[in-house]
Amino acid sequence: MSKQIVVSGIRSTGFLHLGNYFGAIHNYVKMQNDYNCYFFVADYHSLTTHPDPKDLKQHVFRVAAENIASGLDPEKVALYVQSDVPEILELYFLLNTLTYKGELEKVPTFKEKVRSQPENVNAGLLTYPVLMAADILIHRAVKVPVGKDQEQHLEMARNMANRFNNRYGELFPEPYPFNFGSELIKVPSLDGNGKMSKSENINATIYLADDDETIRKKTMKAKSGLSPEQPNSSMTDDIQNLFSLMRLMTDEIIVAQYEAAYADCSIRFGDMKKQLAEDMIRFVAPIRERAADLQKDEVRLQRILKEGAEKARASASETLKATRKLIGINYY
Ligand code: TYM
Repeated sequence: MSKQIVVSGIRSTGFLHLGNYFGAIHNYVKMQNDYNCYFFVADYHSLTTHPDPKDLKQHVFRVAAENIASGLDPEKVALYVQSDVPEILELYFLLNTLTYKGELEKVPTFKEKVRSQPENVNAGLLTYPVLMAADILIHRAVKVPVGKDQEQHLEMARNMANRFNNRYGELFPEPYPFNFGSELIKVPSLDGNGKMSKSENINATIYLADDDETIRKKTMKAKSGLSPEQPNSSMTDDIQNLFSLMRLMTDEIIVAQYEAAYADCSIRFGDMKKQLAEDMIRFVAPIRERAADLQKDEVRLQRILKEGAEKARASASETLKATRKLIGINYY
């Protein structure tokens, strides 16, 4: 039986963090042996916020290096840069003709951008979910490993696939978000304000490039409040956040000890945070070092990305050919 097709991407808008790792890359690595995987650096998506042209290459190469340093094997997957696969943009335009302004304006991430950057509400932001659908449908993927924040975008990609199929004929399968656990993941920030992020909450986000001391400092500053006074009292959001992070990072026997200590009020949050910080350091340090080495070897990264783009274009051009034919762009 042929392997199921998987697509996912990460925007090159900053340093990768534990949210990107546990929401996305961790699943990429687990999927790479059993699925036909296409993973990419979403550099076009990063342009909606107008990054400095001088920074672009470094950002793209760092995201690629951090993926590989986290265990992604470019021999097993196609690892490429979005802008190296122009077929995506043609499909993007074709899907734009099947997508309505009203539905795009209702997307929560768009509404959030309108609030946070009213001076730059460009059409690329509005049609962001269409480009994302094109990224996925260009390989006719069925599984998309992503974090919880991408759920709505995936629903839109399914709508676009169905709309195309109904209008022009069956071509695209429905893509679903994927996580090995039962639910999609949202890794909280250390200050309890939303999630870890590449560009916001920088002091409450643990980056894969953070050094040991930075990780210690950020973690010790995490909000915890006062120790519980009544046995088995319910946890505040801040404490729940700390436990959520601990469940990702720490040996489960130790997590259970802290849970029991919370329940019987003997917990010391300072000790808990120290434990969490050391576990995060143990996890991040080897990735940080491998990624730094890889970024020094530009020739190797270039070769990997070019080979990845070739694999991706082979698949993308087949889909595009079939798409054009169904639409009737088939003149000669
Ligand atoms: P991006 O670059 O914001 O994030 C990359 C991946 O990391 C996940 N993620 C998180 N997961 C859990 N907790 C967090 N705190 C957290 N922060 C980020 C995201 O869910 C994502 O899986 N639009 C996408 C990029 C993209 C894409 C695609 C993804 C473009 N085309 C096609 C899948 C398929 C984005 O901005 O992700």
